Amino acid sequence: MNLVFLGPPGAGKGTIANKAKEILSIPHISTGDLFRSAIKNETELGKKVKTILASGELVPDSVTIDMVIERFMESDTQKGCILDGFPRTIFQADELSKIRKIDHVINFELDTSSVVKRLSGRRVCKSTGKTYHTIYNPPKIEGIDDETGEPLIQREDDKEEAILNRLKVYEEQTAPLIAYYEKLGLLRNIDASVAPELVLQELLSLLSK
Ligand code: AP5
Repeated sequence: MNLVFLGPPGAGKGTIANKAKEILSIPHISTGDLFRSAIKNETELGKKVKTILASGELVPDSVTIDMVIERFMESDTQKGCILDGFPRTIFQADELSKIRKIDHVINFELDTSSVVKRLSGRRVCKSTGKTYHTIYNPPKIEGIDDETGEPLIQREDDKEEAILNRLKVYEEQTAPLIAYYEKLGLLRNIDASVAPELVLQELLSLLSK
C-alpha cells in the first residue's frame, strides 16, 4: 500500500507516520528527513539545500524527485510506503503518478493558529531526529532527549519568520494538491487537531474501510 500524507507544516504527519509504519509494516519516507540527513552528513545534496530548508522555501522539483526515485530503488519500499512531505507541487504529483500507484492521500486538516503553536514548540534530538513538543509531548527532563541525554534543539525552520514563509509556500504550492487528489478520488480528510492516538485511530479505521 502506498500512502501520501498531505497537510500543512506541523500538522503531525511525521508523528503519525512514525506510529503507522510499525502497524502497517511499510517504511516512512519523509523528504524533509532525507534533506536534513544530507545536511547533517554534509553531502553535496546537503550543501545545496541547507539555506533553502532554513528559509522554508521548497527545494527545486528536479532535485527532490531524483532523491525520491533513488529512495524507491531500495528494496524495503517494494511493498509500499508512507510518503510524508512528498509530493508538494503539482509537478511532483504528476511525476509520482508515473512511478507509483497511490492508494490513498491522507489530508491532515489543522487550522493555522494550531500549526504555529505546534511548530514553535517543537524540539528535536539532532542525532536521532526524535520529535517532542514543549507542551503537548515534553521530554522527561526539560530540553533533554529521553533516550540519548543530548540537548534538544529547535529546527532552523521552526523560527517565527521561517514558519510564516512555510505557511505561505504551503498555501501557494502545496494546498492545490487537495483539489488535484480529490478529483482523482484519492483524498481522505482527517481531523489532525485531536491527540495523536486519536488521529492514528481515525487513520487506521479509514484504511480498513
Ligand atoms: P518537512 O520536514 O516535510 O516539513 P513539513 O511538511 O513542514 O512538516 P513538518 O515536519 O514541519 O511537520 P509534521 O506535519 O511532520 O509535524 P510533526 O509530526 O513534526 O520539510 C522541511 C523542508 O524540506 C521544507 O520546508 C522544504 O524546504 C524541504 N522539502 C521537504 N519535502 C519537499 C518537497 N517534496 N519538495 C520540495 N522541498 C521539500 O509535529 C509537529 C509538532 O506538533 C511536534 O512537536 C509534535 O510533537 C506535535 N504534534 C504532532 N501531532 C500532534 C497532535 N496530534 N497533538 C498535539 N501535538 C502534536
